[in-house]
Amino acid sequence: MLNLGILISGRGSNMESILKSIKKKRIPINPAIVISNKPNAKGLKVAEKLGVKTLVIESKGFKGSRWQYDKKIVEALTENGVTSRNGLVCLAGFMRIISPEFVKKYKNRILNIHPALLPAFPGLDSQKQALDYGSKYSGCTVHFVDAGMDTGPVIIQSVVKIKENDTEETLSKRILKEEHKIYPEAVNLFARKKIKVSGRRTIIS
Ligand code: GRF
Repeated sequence: MLNLGILISGRGSNMESILKSIKKKRIPINPAIVISNKPNAKGLKVAEKLGVKTLVIESKGFKGSRWQYDKKIVEALTENGVTSRNGLVCLAGFMRIISPEFVKKYKNRILNIHPALLPAFPGLDSQKQALDYGSKYSGCTVHFVDAGMDTGPVIIQSVVKIKENDTEETLSKRILKEEHKIYPEAVNLFARKKIKVSGRRTIIS
């Protein structure tokens, strides 16, 4: 079976939705490790409660290069069976840009969830960006991670209609609900080897 590593920085609600789906035996993958770059990430406790091993590799104050930090993550993933041959890495609110070396090592094996319909509104505060722009629809995207910022091939998207009285908070909440559906779904597709990447496109069988 494949081994899953999840990287978080905070709340970890997407991580939780994935781990719960695995627990319900909906996804054939072994939840090997949850790694946080922040010692106080709330998601760490959630993972522990669900019986998943956790690890903190603090990024604050780290003196080396981006790759030197990522190397520590790669080592921890590898030690826990999340290898470049038998692993899947999910970024779930992991607030760091990962190095090209890390991406290359786990080519097409790193997923991310973004709270907008990419390529619209990449980067931070996407829900606010959508409201400020006056979009009528937004949503969320699960995609493979490449060396760019939120630019890798799209796997699943879910559309959310923006209401006239939406605030950043209300819109984020409705988008998050969809995130919790599509992220486990994408992990499941990956675990069942149903995703093929062809250039910028993914083909789901
Ligand atoms: C989510 O909105 C996700 O789309 C974005 O960061 C947020 C993380 O939330 N990448 P959580 O930690 O999964 O609750």
